[in-house]
Amino acid sequence: MRSITLPGEEPTLILFHGTGGDENDLIALARHVAPTHAIRSYRGITSENGMLRWFPRTGMNTFDETTVREHIDAMIAGIREDYSDEELASSILIGYSNGANAIAAMMQRGLAVRRAALLHPMLVLDDENTYDADLFVTLGERDRMIPREEAEKLIEHLKTRGARIETYTSPSGHEIASAEADALRAWITARADPR
Ligand code: MLT
Repeated sequence: MRSITLPGEEPTLILFHGTGGDENDLIALARHVAPTHAIRSYRGITSENGMLRWFPRTGMNTFDETTVREHIDAMIAGIREDYSDEELASSILIGYSNGANAIAAMMQRGLAVRRAALLHPMLVLDDENTYDADLFVTLGERDRMIPREEAEKLIEHLKTRGARIETYTSPSGHEIASAEADALRAWITARADPR
């Protein structure tokens, strides 16, 4: 998979942008939440009318699960070319919207993620797994792109299968609010010990 890397301390932050973004989008956020840490930021592997994404959708928040699985498995293969399971487990993944959904789906499909921040995600696949992971999940009270009930379905799915989750509810919409970025920084600071 295409990506950009910036050197820095461990743990590395591995970034997955949202729909219509690219590998540059979350760099400023990563610098804000962990200024001295190494970064790898991936570029979406599929395009919807020129908007980069991680997997296709059939409509707003509707998906063909077989197609999603194919793309997610291709992402997992790409990440495994770049990281061993141990390296991945010691990294912190951060995804926004479609990128957050891709991280959750990769976890459902067996990628060994131990620390991740899922910003404005929803449950896309019905695959089940168990999760030995510390997660920071955000949702927006006025999020019309991904209503909070959709994010809550993912939280429920992950929590009941072992994930340790801290949630942050933003009073605003689908965007990453500045107080939300600050909450993410606090979460990362508490967990940024190299493992
Ligand atoms: C998705 O397709 O993953 C969600 O609808 C979020 C998004 O539009 O990126």
